[in-house]
Amino acid sequence: MILSSGSSLSLEDICYAHSGGTKWMDIYVWPNPRVTKDMVQRAEQAGCKGIVVSVDICQVGFRRRMAYVAGNNVPRNSINANFDKYCKNGIMNEATYVDEVKCGDPSATWADIDWIKSITKLPIILKGIMTVEDALIAVEHKVDAIMVSNHGGRQLDGVPATIDVLAEISRAVGDKIEVYMDGGVRTGTDVLKALALGARAVFIGRPVIYGLAYKGEEGVKNVLQILKDELSLAMALSGK
Ligand SMILES: Cc1cc2nc3c(=O)[nH]c(=O)nc-3n(C[C@H](O)[C@H](O)[C@H](O)COP(=O)(O)O)c2cc1C
Repeated sequence: MILSSGSSLSLEDICYAHSGGTKWMDIYVWPNPRVTKDMVQRAEQAGCKGIVVSVDICQVGFRRRMAYVAGNNVPRNSINANFDKYCKNGIMNEATYVDEVKCGDPSATWADIDWIKSITKLPIILKGIMTVEDALIAVEHKVDAIMVSNHGGRQLDGVPATIDVLAEISRAVGDKIEVYMDGGVRTGTDVLKALALGARAVFIGRPVIYGLAYKGEEGVKNVLQILKDELSLAMALSGK
């Protein structure tokens, strides 16, 4: 599971509530390096096994449906769990912190990725890679893995589907680093196709939310079980 830094419970609450499973922490390169560094180190301390740096959110995309439902504002009380302490200890300003943390620093560069690597022993996974060019630069900068992701299509209308760019990226990267994919995975056959096109693993976003909305924990378990069963069947039927 990849924990969002904008979660409504703190990363510590989540990690200590359930010690099983593998958890990675998702961060942005925030404009305030003290926040980025502290979040990475808190995740490491709480037992996360990887740092996922979302690199496709240097601006927040315009989300029509979100604008319709919430006026395009991130509700303040939904993202304070991980950041509140930075307001209390003066690292961030109470009045402006939502704007400071809702997206990554637009002026971030590859040097920031090198810096994040230097402040943690955890593997670094770059999430939001959509081109061969960026994938190869990521290899040069010795990150541990990349995730082909278009943020669930939420950032920019018209970007390619991740499944359509996965093959060229995984071919270019070869076995130098691991390649993952997310976006639009809805069935076990979607998983099989991504694995066949070079992904080492896939991730899912909305399906677990749908399961949660439908029937809480049981609904989430259902979604995961359906995907596993469908993948297993698709593998058997395709001779895998
Ligand atoms: C409601 C919602 C919130 C999201 N929030 C974040 C986020 O805070 N950070 C991030 O890197 N990606 C975020 N994403 C993108 C997901 O991490 C993921 O890339 C995407 O949902 C995968 O596509 P799928 O939903 O089709 O499976 C969000 C997606 C949704 C739908």
